[in-house]
Amino acid sequence: MLESRWYEGREQALVKHTFLDTYMPAQIPKIVSWADTFCYVDLFAGPWQSRSGDYSDTSFGIALQRMCEAKAKQAELGRSVHMVAHLVEKDPKNFAELVEAVKRFPQVEVHCYQGLAEQHAATIAAALPVRAFRFVVIDPKGVPDIRKFQCLIEPDRTEVLLNFMFQFANRFAGSQDRMPTLEGWLGDLQGEAEWRSEFVELRGAEREAAISERARQVLKRMGTYAFAPALTVDETDVDRTLYKLIYLTRHPAGIKVFRDAHRKALETQSEYRTAKKAEVRKNATGMDDLFAQTTVMEPGERSARAISEGETQARALLLQRIADSADGLEWKTLWPAVLDACVVTYGALGEIARGLWSSGEVEVPAWQSQAVKRPKDEFHFRLPQAG
Ligand SMILES: C[S@@+](CC[C@H](N)C(=O)[O-])C[C@H]1O[C@@H](n2cnc3c(N)ncnc32)[C@H](O)[C@@H]1O
Repeated sequence: MLESRWYEGREQALVKHTFLDTYMPAQIPKIVSWADTFCYVDLFAGPWQSRSGDYSDTSFGIALQRMCEAKAKQAELGRSVHMVAHLVEKDPKNFAELVEAVKRFPQVEVHCYQGLAEQHAATIAAALPVRAFRFVVIDPKGVPDIRKFQCLIEPDRTEVLLNFMFQFANRFAGSQDRMPTLEGWLGDLQGEAEWRSEFVELRGAEREAAISERARQVLKRMGTYAFAPALTVDETDVDRTLYKLIYLTRHPAGIKVFRDAHRKALETQSEYRTAKKAEVRKNATGMDDLFAQTTVMEPGERSARAISEGETQARALLLQRIADSADGLEWKTLWPAVLDACVVTYGALGEIARGLWSSGEVEVPAWQSQAVKRPKDEFHFRLPQAG
């Protein structure tokens, strides 16, 4: 259980860690049902500003703990799973602490590397068993040249979580000589050189959408990934994006788990930002904020809005997709595309689909009974037939 007091002054890390701490226990059991080896790769491992005393507030601490738990659970089920971690840290002091810290997790085979992630990536890639599943976390403080990690991003059986430092990107995208590491990999789509001039024209939300869309598309192509959804992490006191956690997966099952963890992370973000705003108001007026005492997540707060707007967009996209296909579409084709594009969980999208079917806005011939709460993959959705 993550405690907010560990994150005072670095609340964004709480959002990131809430994501990891939700994603890992949900995803590992799915993976180890078919893979004998689960590899966690953390290229910028830290520890970084850890206060919990046991590294439960670090990415590697969360990951290794969740891997130990999953391994024990699988052992109870009579299955032996090999858990492996490769961790890189540049700073000598942090590295010394890392080497000590990982001794807490003897059930995981841990390899620590001191130095630059860029230099160790190839060694790690070569050390990973071909049939192992890999979860690669790239969480730098700045904007490295992501192409240096191609060898870890490209292979099959890989999922990636990249911290895309949007605020830097927003400041520098389009000015080629000011941040070559960023321009290098953002510019890596062939035949699309006009993006620089397009970015210059854009402002605000449109510019944010264009930059993150470009980053998502470039990353997808680095490993022919099918999905690259992003989680927006905000500054604490201002309504402004700090970074985006971009997740790469090739499988619909991955995006399902991502959106559940995304939702949990947004709720956490909304709650602490709501509380912070109430605190600011209280300090300014000297009076307790009655509203803040009765709600943990203010509906107008950005992350709360992202959740509700995501569901509205998902409904519209679902209807659009069904309308665009003359013969309609199966649920298993519909839901992954909507989850990739919109901030919506699989459960919430199922509710939306149920609402559309109940109200007659869509026809689903195989959905015969209200007792069936959620659509099944083989259910065929179409717009009501005329006449
Ligand atoms: C943002 S912190 C990582 C936080 C960690 N992922 C977490 O969530 O707990 C970045 C870490 O990467 C290290 N670092 C910076 N540049 C690096 C590089 N090129 N290669 C490896 N480590 C690097 C820093 O010393 C720092 O400990």
